[in-house]
Amino acid sequence: MFFLDSSDPAEISEMFSWGVLAGVTTNPLILSRDAGCVDLERRIREVLSASAGPVSVELTSETEAAMLEEARAYHAWAPDRICIKVPFSDVGLKVTHALATRGVRTNVTCVMSFNQAYLAALAGGAYVSIFSGRIRDMGYAATPVIERTRARIERERLRAEIIVGSIRHLMDVNEALDAGAHIVTVPPAILRKMLHNPKTEETIREFNAAWEKRAK
Ligand code: E4P
Repeated sequence: MFFLDSSDPAEISEMFSWGVLAGVTTNPLILSRDAGCVDLERRIREVLSASAGPVSVELTSETEAAMLEEARAYHAWAPDRICIKVPFSDVGLKVTHALATRGVRTNVTCVMSFNQAYLAALAGGAYVSIFSGRIRDMGYAATPVIERTRARIERERLRAEIIVGSIRHLMDVNEALDAGAHIVTVPPAILRKMLHNPKTEETIREFNAAWEKRAK
């Protein structure tokens, strides 16, 4: 399954029309890049209208009370669609657990290791976001983290699903899927790259040229 890692409503709307996407993930960096001066609620409502499925909105406060209050406000925008993105930490685990108890879906984010992923799943995270590119930035492979997390989820029948994010190259997508990601959240530029194959384009040109030149 693919989610789109974007907060640009026009791009989201175009790519959802391809019929291959099942949700959207945003984060404060993406939002400040795409929509720095736009009101967050307005922008997320536009994202909701342009898409289908869960839309992840990330908490930016850092105390338990403030995070729960922020989560309450975001969730109210669309209780059936908004998924609260909770940055991983001890406080993040408390918030994840509290929200899960209230039936609010969370996406535990910025996960860089198997241990963190397992804790996030145990705390009741609906999604656990493993950051492939950033793990590699530290000099480690991301695939063992994904594989071990998936194996543990299956073995203990945990409800969490793995989202692999921080995708930098097309190969990261394929590696994440092979390693056991339930979902890969792809930046729009990477999703576009999945379309292209020169042999496909050459073959279509050949077929259409032959049809044009046929004996009439
Ligand atoms: C995932 O949900 C995150 O939004 C995203 O993939 C972060 O990746 P990056 O900041 O390393 O690109």
